[in-house]
Amino acid sequence: MKKMPEVVRMEEALSFDYQSNGNFHLNFKTNYGFIRSLCIKGMVDDVNNYADNLKRYKNFVQVGIGGSALGATASIEFLQGIYHNLENEKKYFVLDNIDPERMKFILSLDFKDTVFHIVSKSGQTTETISQFLIIYEKVKESLGKDADRHFIFTTGKSGFLRDFGKEHKIDMFNIPDEVGGRYSIFTPVALVPLAFLGFDIDSFIEGAKVAVRAYRNGWSTPNDFAEFAVGECKNGRNMLVFFAYKDRLLSLADWFRQLWAESLGKDGKGQTPIKALGVTDQHSQLQLYQDGPKDKAFVFLDSVNLIDFEVKEGYLKGRKLGEIMETEKISTIKALTEHSVNCTQFFINKIDEFHLGAFCISLMIATAKSGEILNVNPFNQPGVELGKKYTKEALGL
Ligand code: PA5
Repeated sequence: MKKMPEVVRMEEALSFDYQSNGNFHLNFKTNYGFIRSLCIKGMVDDVNNYADNLKRYKNFVQVGIGGSALGATASIEFLQGIYHNLENEKKYFVLDNIDPERMKFILSLDFKDTVFHIVSKSGQTTETISQFLIIYEKVKESLGKDADRHFIFTTGKSGFLRDFGKEHKIDMFNIPDEVGGRYSIFTPVALVPLAFLGFDIDSFIEGAKVAVRAYRNGWSTPNDFAEFAVGECKNGRNMLVFFAYKDRLLSLADWFRQLWAESLGKDGKGQTPIKALGVTDQHSQLQLYQDGPKDKAFVFLDSVNLIDFEVKEGYLKGRKLGEIMETEKISTIKALTEHSVNCTQFFINKIDEFHLGAFCISLMIATAKSGEILNVNPFNQPGVELGKKYTKEALGL
């Protein structure tokens, strides 16, 4: 089984590339569709220009599920932290789960200040379309002929959403055919909300390109990670715990969970991804992780502290929260390792769009590579499609 470096620091990948001084070529040998999507001509400019028109809105609602929501949310929480809606004037909300209580809240927003981004590659996912139709009716009722201006569709080339958009002249972005939902983070699916919130999407894409270039020039982490995880899986570690050691990293664990589960879980193969939050889950799951069945491997994800607080009094005087957290992470890894549990670590040294792009594409390449090693197609999701089909049949659609 592949041994990973003790800690993978994203800056090493990025500096590796700077040294190699290469250009980004499309004829990259593992030319995955999601890598080609980094080079779609005019895509970033189109989204940036479009976002200028959205400045008048205060609320952005992403209506989509799975790959149509998780990447956007993970990026925003990574860049702005989990309290972004409390701290910022511009708000970002997600309607993925169709819990009517969530809908009740969204319908209570002032529609004049709100834009709805409806995202569905197939253009006919029941959860997304049912929510869209409910919202559309209410917005129409309230804003009349102006309603259509409050909607943006990001969708594939055909389907209900594409047809509806054409009929109502709704602004639309495209999801390329060759990019599946969970690999769509570098397309308008996530770029539109990021640009709305004022993030530098050029830099996000650039970070991804630089990581691809580093990989092409010999940076081996994505392959090493694939070999490590698949090797662990073949050794009976059929669960992969993604242990995020900062609140802002936890949604990345959700994003990765989908990527790993839907890409690899087929033909009786796969590895169940589990998300955990450090330090919270040390007091909930760690006992099992350490001493329970030896069926798990671990990925620790950490990033720099942007702020810290020092204890001024008492027996912890002089200790900082960030320092305590870091020490607990190291101690947890030590304890797990002593119990013959294998761990690998990623560290993101800067909280910015560039590093996020590099990190995400690295895990996407690692996932695609793992599919190749396991001999499964990492880009389809027959199980999800079957569930969708049965739901439609049961609803008589
Ligand atoms: O990764 C995938 O393909 C899925 O999880 C989809 O993103 C999810 O099912 C939503 O599908 P759609 O974008 O067609 O609405």
